Amino acid sequence: MTETVSHDPRPRETTVTPQDASTPQDTIAVVDFGSQYTQLIARRVREEGVFCRIHPCTAPIEEIVGDRAALRGIVLSGGPASVYWADAPVMRLELLEQGVPVLGICYGLQATIKALGGAVAPGDAGGEYGRTELHAEAVPGAPERSVVWMSHGDRVESLPAGFTAIASSDGCPFAAVEGLEGRFLGLQFHPEVSHTEYGAAILSDFLHDRCGAGRGWQMGSYVEDASRAIRERVGDGRVICGLSGGVDSSALALLLHHALGDKLTCIFVDNGLLRQGEARQVVDTFQGAFGLRLQAIDAGDEFLAALTGVTDPEAKRKAIGKVFIDVFARAARDCGDAAFLAQGTLYPDVIESMAAHGGPTMTIKTHHNVGGLPDDLKFKLIEPFRELFKDEVRQVGRLLGLPEAIVSRHPFPGPGLAVRIPGEITREKLATLRAADAIFREELTRSGWMARTAQAFAVLLPVRSVGVMGDVRTYESVVALRCVDTPDFMTADWSQLPYELLALVSSRIINEVAGVNRVVYDISSKPPATIEWE
Ligand code: XMP
Repeated sequence: MTETVSHDPRPRETTVTPQDASTPQDTIAVVDFGSQYTQLIARRVREEGVFCRIHPCTAPIEEIVGDRAALRGIVLSGGPASVYWADAPVMRLELLEQGVPVLGICYGLQATIKALGGAVAPGDAGGEYGRTELHAEAVPGAPERSVVWMSHGDRVESLPAGFTAIASSDGCPFAAVEGLEGRFLGLQFHPEVSHTEYGAAILSDFLHDRCGAGRGWQMGSYVEDASRAIRERVGDGRVICGLSGGVDSSALALLLHHALGDKLTCIFVDNGLLRQGEARQVVDTFQGAFGLRLQAIDAGDEFLAALTGVTDPEAKRKAIGKVFIDVFARAARDCGDAAFLAQGTLYPDVIESMAAHGGPTMTIKTHHNVGGLPDDLKFKLIEPFRELFKDEVRQVGRLLGLPEAIVSRHPFPGPGLAVRIPGEITREKLATLRAADAIFREELTRSGWMARTAQAFAVLLPVRSVGVMGDVRTYESVVALRCVDTPDFMTADWSQLPYELLALVSSRIINEVAGVNRVVYDISSKPPATIEWE
């Protein structure tokens, strides 16, 4: 979500995914009834080495089934609805008639039971939330007693013919059920969340034993399959790819280079708003160490000119986005004969746009990427990561030798330091912020705290404060330090950094960075604050 490379909003008529090149691989269809955990289900399935795709529960059955020869099983997610709501998502019985095992989780279980003529009691009968003890009689993967994670209002009251209970909890006689001659497994609890002790084992049993899915989804074979698909698609053509130095575009560039060698040209736009040493590092790593054809464009002056007099945060983003497009488009035209443009679109981006087109509600990340490219650039798109989660992209990067510092890099916003300098941007302010930020990050890395937090940076505040240095009064700038812990950047807590570390950083910044006489630590959570100051 925080790559500096733009996402082109034009319709994607053609993409490259490994499936284009390989024999059908075992696939699980995850049907989304709007659960906040749907993406987690998909990630757990893939962690078991099984490929899966998420489909809105409203998608046509043929789309959910996809290549029937590859389909091994269906997972029905939970969801926020009650089966009693007038607009409750509908469970279509065709999903049970595909001849593959089906796992119904929470709402997926309740909706199936109701559709088959069983009884589901509404929420006021007493739901269960949080850790609950499961008494399992015959749940493959789970022992007799274990802790599971429940989160349901409605509950199953009686089963349709041919179904049996295989586990219960104190508040729920049907915590797990089996039916349809072993083809349906229903769980009232959530096996996908880490609080469910044997969740991974239960899912593993379902996928490998019940569905017979192999462990073919491995990033090593993904890299080779995707490379083959890219080579076939590109033929004798040429590809360009924007490189920002973030993990997605870096892994993308290496994958394309692995597949295409010199048929790839990467374009790196140095917008003058990067952190200390960053532009140099991108060039050294990709042109130097990896030998990629890299066009590095020093466009700092152009960006700074566009930002002159601009103080509103959104206006800054717009100005930066516009210059980025101009510069990138110019560089792309200079590449003349390139017919393809590669982009690092990830699966969550795809799911998000899918949800926006009629699927049930899902957690939606804020995207602040700079805008798309002009229409007269008639590229064919290549998006090899369209079906990958971020942690899978990191694995691809690692496999291709991407340095760990880039693989596990904290996100850095597209508009860069411009949104960390409230007010007008000047060259001097950028230099001050760069120096302070570098000290903060250096000490975080040295102390091991960098790896323990999600994002850390300095902000140059638009105020000056009085200080005293020697016996002289100073009237200088204030730097705020921001460091947050967050699983997803949607909500965040400020990191409880040790006082000694904060003291060291503060003292170094005040002593080493000219023009700064005060350092403060931002202790606001998101919400109500945001991670960036602008
Ligand atoms: P906020 O400030 O919205 O940030 O809490 C959440 C995450 O998004 C990043 N961010 C951006 N990334 N362009 C980007 O590519 C932007 O304009 C932008 N604004 C915020 C932020 O760094 C954090 O990781």
